[in-house]
Amino acid sequence: MLEQLEQIYQEAQVSLAAAASSEALHEWESRTIGKKGAVTLLLRSTGQLPKEERAAFGKRANEVKELLDAAFAERETQIKEIELIRSLESGQVDITLPGRAHPVGGLHPSTQTLRELYHIWADMGFQVFRSRDVEDDDTNFTLLNIPEHHPARDMWDTFYTTTPGVILRTHTSPGQIRAMRELGENGTQPIRVILPGMCYRYEQITSRSEMQFHQLEGLVIGRNIRMSDLKGTITAFARRMFGAKAAVRFRASYFPFTEPSMEIDVECFLCGGQGCKVCKYAGWLEISGAGMVHPTVLRNGGYDPSVWSGFAFGMGPERMTMLKHRISDIRYFWGNDLRFLEQF
Ligand code: DAH
Repeated sequence: MLEQLEQIYQEAQVSLAAAASSEALHEWESRTIGKKGAVTLLLRSTGQLPKEERAAFGKRANEVKELLDAAFAERETQIKEIELIRSLESGQVDITLPGRAHPVGGLHPSTQTLRELYHIWADMGFQVFRSRDVEDDDTNFTLLNIPEHHPARDMWDTFYTTTPGVILRTHTSPGQIRAMRELGENGTQPIRVILPGMCYRYEQITSRSEMQFHQLEGLVIGRNIRMSDLKGTITAFARRMFGAKAAVRFRASYFPFTEPSMEIDVECFLCGGQGCKVCKYAGWLEISGAGMVHPTVLRNGGYDPSVWSGFAFGMGPERMTMLKHRISDIRYFWGNDLRFLEQF
């Protein structure tokens, strides 16, 4: 059997060198070192030899198998190269074809809007303050001058957790309390921050309202901060965001945590105030709630309202994105439909 093995080995080396194509190579493989190849079969029949011959034969057979495996791999590389050159030369491969594009992800439209907002506010000296998504009842409501059982709580439909007093924030305003307490150094330092983040409401999902959405809150605390500062700041912002000619309108409104409170509209930038479907023929689009920080809220943040004052606002990035791109249904934002997301 040892002689047989050596003979197969000799022949295999010769026929491997002669194999000149992938097909011939694979034919060689199955004939020699494949599952039913000659070497494999011989190796398997080691057991039939008399005991004293088995070790020597098995050793040599394994050696031969390894040598042939290595020779095969080497020849395979050579042949692939030869075949590639041949196909290039024969013009079968068009090397001028563009390469395959690798799909790369893009930024979510809300992320794009948020980044635009960060940029504008950063230019006006606002720093980002991150507050938590999971809030306590007190910070989300009570400390913002919305007492328990007060009907004003009806303004926000809340997701409660199984832990009493722990909720998902319904707005970014509780971040005002956290910012004042963390940055204010016991009511001695001025503040100028934006607080972006996701908010959650236990609401019927429709084309106009989602149960999760972003808000971007703003908070300015200082001495002698007046409503003219609020109006000037928001007007400057709107001109950056919606164009140099954007007109802004302040409408009286009510929020428990500001006094006075207002809602802010910009002239519809799609129809130039003429009235269109997007602005529902009003000529104006609502972009933000705002107001002067309520004395009770200042006190809860550690500030003396007879010395300090401030303004706050809360805007909706999805709203702005919808207006900008004329997106008619807010459900697209978290629907994870690539046909929507790939357009941005
Ligand atoms: N938190 C309000 C809401 O979710 C929005 C808001 C209004 C925020 C007025 C403010 C503000 O900071 O001053 O509806």
